[in-house]
Amino acid sequence: MSNFHLRGTGQEDHSLLNEDQVVVKKRLEHASRWRPRLTSCRCWTIAALLAAFWLTFFGLWLYFSYFRDAGGAAGSGAVGRNVKADLVVLPQDLADATGAYCLDGSPPSYYFRNASSEEHHNSWIIHLLGGAWCYNNSECARRSATDLGSSRMLSPKQLFGGILSANFTVNPDFYDWNVAVVNYCDGASFSGDREDPINYNNTKMYYRGSRVLDAVISYLLQSAGLQRADRVILSGASAGALAVYLHADRVSSMVPDDASFKAVADGGFFVPEADTSGGNRWENAMKDVYQMQQVEGSLDEDCLLAKGKNKWECFFAQYAYPYVTTPMFVINSAYDRLALKNILGVRCRPTECSKEELRVIGEHRRTFLQRTDQINRYNKDGMFLTSCYDHKQASSDYFWMTYKVAGRTTREAFADWYYERTTTAETRDVDCGSLTCNPTCRGNR
Ligand SMILES: *[C@@H]1O[C@H](CO)[C@@H](O)[C@H](O)[C@H]1NC(C)=O
Ligand SMILES: *[C@@H]1O[C@H](CO)[C@@H](O)[C@H](O)[C@H]1NC(C)=O
Ligand SMILES: *[C@@H]1O[C@H](CO)[C@@H](O)[C@H](O)[C@H]1NC(C)=O
Ligand SMILES: *[C@@H]1O[C@H](CO)[C@@H](O)[C@H](O)[C@H]1NC(C)=O
Repeated sequence: MSNFHLRGTGQEDHSLLNEDQVVVKKRLEHASRWRPRLTSCRCWTIAALLAAFWLTFFGLWLYFSYFRDAGGAAGSGAVGRNVKADLVVLPQDLADATGAYCLDGSPPSYYFRNASSEEHHNSWIIHLLGGAWCYNNSECARRSATDLGSSRMLSPKQLFGGILSANFTVNPDFYDWNVAVVNYCDGASFSGDREDPINYNNTKMYYRGSRVLDAVISYLLQSAGLQRADRVILSGASAGALAVYLHADRVSSMVPDDASFKAVADGGFFVPEADTSGGNRWENAMKDVYQMQQVEGSLDEDCLLAKGKNKWECFFAQYAYPYVTTPMFVINSAYDRLALKNILGVRCRPTECSKEELRVIGEHRRTFLQRTDQINRYNKDGMFLTSCYDHKQASSDYFWMTYKVAGRTTREAFADWYYERTTTAETRDVDCGSLTCNPTCRGNR
């Protein structure tokens, strides 16, 4: 219970560095366990020599497995370890040509790591990062001075885990693919399409997320080899996963026709529902985003047409989903931590919830399963619906490798669906029912 933490979304991406420290600790423990035996045979010299050898070996290991990586040996082709991706900021003139700007007017950007094998030279994962939304001009102005609203302050390299990892053990199916991780800098799930800039409190801002996405895809096509792609996976987490529901078909229409194109949306199926105070705070806030950023222009035309007066509904996963023609894999928790906290307003720790809180949470799961039931109608799609009190799970090593539903990890379930190794029925995983039922979920403890 005491090791329960609310981990920030950014931290999860650095889980591998933390695991390195665990390995270091284990090695030190291992070394100290050996010493007594050596003492008992009184071979002090041998012990000293061994210790020296150990330290040298250990130092070299540390250097090669960590510091060199941190220093940037990207693209060196090593299979065993993860490799950082390099920041690419689009040229200013390209951004100017289409008006594709982050909130603060800086150009769009992404992190790139080259494919490490000949076989997957033309295989691509394009991942859309998340980071919630800004709901009014004031919030967006604040965001525009951060990594979530600007490309000016991003670190030149970054490590990504799970489906984006270059470590074969973590990610045996995709470790050697080209990876482009698109930075989220518009505050509206890559969906704003507002012509006029906003002037707020002496800050000039742009609501142009839709153009940001288009500009990055165009740039990848023209300058990074995406036009030769034979396989493309569009992936996204959280607000980036909502963008996958909203824009997968558009991205699909941009990549080469003969490329296989599939999508995975991880933790973006947020269900609008009443919160514990009886209001619809989140739903209303998202309607504000829809208006403020003029999202309509980037949404699916068939959906907009069908919704008539309620066009804003097409900005929510549950309404946008049936219009998506791209094959989709939906990864989502029925007890998504951020949904429970920020949409429902239930903030108890899983093992400490009151009866009433558990009732509300259970009701939420039922609603969530009703809304996601439509996925069963589409043979092209698969789903992995968990009961873990956490948020997004494909780009974190732990959830990708360890968390299981019906005996399969997230990684196995996704790869089986992706490579069509299983029947349609087998690509529809729904976890056990209660908030603490799955022992492989560490967020529930
Ligand atoms: C690759 O990932 C596995 C599983 O997390 C880890 O045990 C191993 O140390 C990693 N390999 C390298 C070279 O970092
Ligand atoms: C990626 O790999 C290809 C072929 O190995 C090479 O031509 C290209 O320059 C590499 N790109 C980067 C950015 O490293
Ligand atoms: C903007 O939204 C935040 C949170 O939703 C709220 O606290 C704040 O009062 C709003 N600001 C304005 C100027 O509406
Ligand atoms: C306006 O900007 C200033 C400084 O940039 C900031 O301290 C203040 O909170 C902002 N006001 C609003 C209403 O956003």
